[in-house]
Amino acid sequence: MNLASHALSEIEKGQSARLALKKISSKYNITDWKLRSKVHAIILETIRRLNYIDWVINISLKGTSISQLHPYIRSILRLAVYHLKFLSLRSSQIFPVSVRIIAKKLGKKDARFVKAIFQEIERKDLTIYFMRLSESERIGLQLFHPTWFVRYLFRLIGRSEALKLMKTNISPPHQHIRVNTLKIDPDMLQRKLSEEKIIVSTDSDLFDVLNVKKAQRPLVHSSCYKKGFFYIQNKASALVTHILNPQENDFVLDTCAAPGGKTTHIGQFMKNKGLIIALDSSSKRMRELIKTSQRQAIKIIQPLLIDSRSVTFIPEKLFDKVLIDAPCSSTGAFWSRPSRKWTVNKRLIKWLCQIQWSLMEHASGLVRPGGILVYSTCSLTIEENEMIIERFLKLNPDFRLTDATPFIGVHGFRGLNQCQRLFPQINNTDGFFIAKLTRRM
Ligand SMILES: C[S@@+](CC[C@H](N)C(=O)[O-])C[C@H]1O[C@@H](n2cnc3c(N)ncnc32)[C@H](O)[C@@H]1O
Repeated sequence: MNLASHALSEIEKGQSARLALKKISSKYNITDWKLRSKVHAIILETIRRLNYIDWVINISLKGTSISQLHPYIRSILRLAVYHLKFLSLRSSQIFPVSVRIIAKKLGKKDARFVKAIFQEIERKDLTIYFMRLSESERIGLQLFHPTWFVRYLFRLIGRSEALKLMKTNISPPHQHIRVNTLKIDPDMLQRKLSEEKIIVSTDSDLFDVLNVKKAQRPLVHSSCYKKGFFYIQNKASALVTHILNPQENDFVLDTCAAPGGKTTHIGQFMKNKGLIIALDSSSKRMRELIKTSQRQAIKIIQPLLIDSRSVTFIPEKLFDKVLIDAPCSSTGAFWSRPSRKWTVNKRLIKWLCQIQWSLMEHASGLVRPGGILVYSTCSLTIEENEMIIERFLKLNPDFRLTDATPFIGVHGFRGLNQCQRLFPQINNTDGFFIAKLTRRM
């Protein structure tokens, strides 16, 4: 409980769950990976249900709200409600421990305050409060999604499909790995992983993707991972490189490259021949890209820490292929990254659209005549996807849409049939959008 609440407080500051746990584990010298995995699962499942948990707590607070509480108290309350409501533990098993932790960390006054909130939580009949809500608010609480997103999804894909999608998002996520075919073939990797008690199966769509069925320990601890035999990558993300289809000796630009999942996959397709210019504006993520490419022994990547909208190249040296894997709302990745549900809103999406548009406008000028431009996001919104492509095609008649093959998802919306969308409830992957454009000769 103590470890989890510290990690939750770190996540509130913007850290990812994995990094928050790493930081707290090294602070308290926790080396037992089983304990770390257990805490990681508790944190993720608490975050997945955060709107419901906060709603329960807010109802029990008088004259204040959860956002105004001390971050540590907030974390302890959230974990206690998660254990009580979703792990079927009795309040007598949870509350006294939580109060003791608060007393030790913050003092008796705060412990008394927390005890009073627990008494309120036990006393409240939630059904009365629940009945006062609108339908989309109720569905949002039952399926742990923000109300604006419930309404958005209903309009986008219809009620029945939206409910299926949100139910998928709250089930345990699928895990895929992408085989580094420069180092090992998929069959051999499958055998080597089974020696490490990691059970995988081949994928019927993509030859270099394996579906993880069972793993007794985190994949990053496996020797196959450390040797660069595979990269942990969602199948939908791996599909992007298949659609870009880079070839040996190509000259490729990856405009939003870090942490390098697609860049290294591109290098793999190119069999380490040719050149990939990998741009990103985040130094932290770029460091990851460098580590990832070293582990996978991809030697043709030239990383550049820069805003890709400020890059210019001479007309004689335009690119054969350009990838824009744009920063986005991640509304398609709520399944694997549940914390994103609570940080995205419509204002942020509007702002992201402006960045996506400017990335597209700039990078398209760097594609050689006859060259390929691929635009992808892990967002479900049409504003970040089809509407960007429609506007681009209207203003850039020298580009035409091309079939985004291999086609394993569903067609793009608004008649953009050559674009491809993937959905968690249909494809068992993150939600993705991929458009492929060719610059006319
Ligand atoms: C979706 S992530 C890319 C993921 C990466 N392609 C992969 O497969 O591992 C988007 C990236 O865009 C970067 N980014 C955002 N704005 C940028 C800009 N103006 N120029 C370059 N990179 C940018 C972010 O730092 C982030 O790493």
